[in-house]
Amino acid sequence: MLKQIDFSKKISILELGPGTGVVTKQILDKITSDSNLVCLELNEQFCNDLAELKDKNLEVIQGSAEDIGDLFKTQSFDYVVSGLPLAIFKKACVNEILDGCVSSLKEEGKYIQFQYSLASKKTLQRYFSKVDLSLAAVNLPPAVVYTCSL
Ligand SMILES: C[S@@+](CC[C@H](N)C(=O)[O-])C[C@H]1O[C@@H](n2cnc3c(N)ncnc32)[C@H](O)[C@@H]1O
Repeated sequence: MLKQIDFSKKISILELGPGTGVVTKQILDKITSDSNLVCLELNEQFCNDLAELKDKNLEVIQGSAEDIGDLFKTQSFDYVVSGLPLAIFKKACVNEILDGCVSSLKEEGKYIQFQYSLASKKTLQRYFSKVDLSLAAVNLPPAVVYTCSL
């Protein structure tokens, strides 16, 4: 999932739905000391656990990905990494989230979505000019990683 990220540079990453922090910890291990990671998670307990990591490069925000547009009016990201189960969200909710992601990404930024189905492909193609798919083969069941560019 993180293969598409250039960790050699100073970068800013927004992670949506980090959950227990499996991906979060990998990102924190890889980013440069002047890079930053913002985690946006709905679940209070997960937020508290993530905050316990006490990493100076990490900011944890409890909130909904539907509010990205409002939350990050003055901040933009090189990468948005999402483990959100988009395929089971209502259409209006997905649209809200993807609208927010598009406006929060830098021009050369990438949206990286982890998913267990191909159901979101067409939706992502409406928002991004380029949508590449790769298989996270080590995952059981196999998962798809969409890498999307504006
Ligand atoms: C499938 S889990 C992702 C787990 C994590 N990426 C991992 O690899 O361990 C989805 C997470 O998204 C969070 N979530 C669901 N809806 C959300 C929303 N609207 N905004 C932010 N987080 C949300 C859930 O609380 C859950 O932690």
